[in-house]
Amino acid sequence: MYINFWYPVVAAKDLGVKPQKIRLLSHDFVVFRDEHGHPAVLSDTCTHRGASLAGGKCKGDGTVQCPYHGWRFNSKGECTRIPSVGKQTKPPLRARVDAYPVQEKYGIVFAFLGDLPEDERPPILPIDEHGTPDWRSTLLVFDVDYYYERSIENGLDPAHNEYVHPTHGYQGEREDTYLMTELRPFNTNEWGHGFLSTFDAPPLKNRFTRFFRSEGGKMEAGSGTCGPNHMWTFINFSDKFALHGYMFEAPIDENRTRVFLLTERNTLFFKKGWLTFLNNYLDKKVNERNKVIAGQDIKVMNDVWPRMTPPSRSKELMMPADRAIVQYRDKLNEFEARGWKIDTAALRAARDKGDVVFAIPCPARRSTNAWVLDPTPLIAPKTSMSTASALQAAG
Ligand code: FES
Ligand SMILES: [Fe+2]
Repeated sequence: MYINFWYPVVAAKDLGVKPQKIRLLSHDFVVFRDEHGHPAVLSDTCTHRGASLAGGKCKGDGTVQCPYHGWRFNSKGECTRIPSVGKQTKPPLRARVDAYPVQEKYGIVFAFLGDLPEDERPPILPIDEHGTPDWRSTLLVFDVDYYYERSIENGLDPAHNEYVHPTHGYQGEREDTYLMTELRPFNTNEWGHGFLSTFDAPPLKNRFTRFFRSEGGKMEAGSGTCGPNHMWTFINFSDKFALHGYMFEAPIDENRTRVFLLTERNTLFFKKGWLTFLNNYLDKKVNERNKVIAGQDIKVMNDVWPRMTPPSRSKELMMPADRAIVQYRDKLNEFEARGWKIDTAALRAARDKGDVVFAIPCPARRSTNAWVLDPTPLIAPKTSMSTASALQAAG
């Protein structure tokens, strides 16, 4: 898990003035809307004596009030009131909690969990078609019981479709169709790699979807990443119909992940207003289909071991079709080399001792040392390890 990226926190429609406790990167956060309706994301641990701010309530002045002794914190994390010392006494600067930059985008509240200044932050994965007249989007949020990097790697894996998703492949019945040789680089940049590939797909059987592909034929699909936890997947079912899936993954901890799946589909000839009811019906159908497809993946992924990807490449045997996964791991190594990787072993050891709580450092930590909680332990920067040898070994 890495600091200094944008993480999806909650669906925008599900966030009101009631504070919510959200666990991300093995840390707790309190999330609420301030007096202007803007989302706020703060470290959840009260700096007084450790109560959970999410157990408190939001006051009309845009603050969240701790349930234990009533200290109040605004959306910048500043402590604005300590009732036990009276209204006239200004709370000390050090009473503040970490507060994180927030963006509400694509119907999702994102928080930047890290301390980079604004001009150095990686982007939220851009979705050019979002909100344009020819495209329509639906959001599905669900939890899975496995590590987010395994989940991302599953999405970067073109060779699993044949066996895991009956509508995408021939279930191994036709050896001639199943040769994953060509992954064409696509949409690669500083924050991630991507590819497209063409493969043989069976006819669609459903009476509605048959319209799009009634015969077996070529299908183009691909995926790629932006940072450790944003992934795009383009599926061109036919020249008439495409789905673009965007997964924004929130690592809850090392064993659980919350997935925010945004699906964009081209509206074809259904964009006319009088067909709104049809689009609403299709929104429902898209998410029903997403649940079925996700369920097929989850069934396999629940039993992949080890739970986290092994640190040594020699403990798995990569093939050329795994190229995008190797590239993803190379990117993660780059993020580690920047010093952004959370030292989960140190975190676990400290927690087992039971007398310390950490906060993910926020950007304000760069301007003052006056903080109560220690920043979460990070793995010291080191040189990125090349995995070219792994690909060479794979042929
Ligand atoms: S622990 Fe929060 S006010 Fe005392
Ligand atoms: Fe899949």
